[in-house]
Amino acid sequence: MKIFLIGFMGSGKTTLGRKLAARMNCEFIDLDHKLEQQVELSIAEYFSFFGEDAFRKLESEVLKKTIYPDDVIVSTGGGLPCYFDNIDWMKANGKVVYIKLAPKILADRLESGKEERPLLQDKHDDDLVAFIEQRLAEREAFYSQATIIADGLSLTAEKLEQILEVKAT
Ligand code: S3P
Repeated sequence: MKIFLIGFMGSGKTTLGRKLAARMNCEFIDLDHKLEQQVELSIAEYFSFFGEDAFRKLESEVLKKTIYPDDVIVSTGGGLPCYFDNIDWMKANGKVVYIKLAPKILADRLESGKEERPLLQDKHDDDLVAFIEQRLAEREAFYSQATIIADGLSLTAEKLEQILEVKAT
């Protein structure tokens, strides 16, 4: 089974994905990391050299051109499901799990680790919460198309594995 984890920055896609893959004894792929390896630049560098539009095209290409094993957990960048036909592509090629969290919780988690995230670099405190609220409202229409919506609060890899056993058959 191919499982694509989607959700806002800071929702825990990479951490949970890595742990879930270890539990399920399958491969883990972090698409942001794959993109960085491909261009030999960090995402922050790529954004500042080429801009967001170029980044969106490239992340879509990386999503679709990566060769996935039959069983794999894939963590995706927070914006990826919201551009082009990426959400449809993921649903046609596997199960999509949305890790859902409220803006305030995301803001607390994102207060550290903003530097490597170009969209957040200049946002602080209330600004950061407002930005997340606005982006999340825009993105919800895409995120909510996921096969499974999991409450990200106190979500563990073990719980996620159980949810998948019940719902992803
Ligand atoms: C982005 C999320 C980031 C990364 C880029 C843009 C977004 O990934 O792809 O900085 O638009 O939400 P994470 O969700 O893994 O932080």
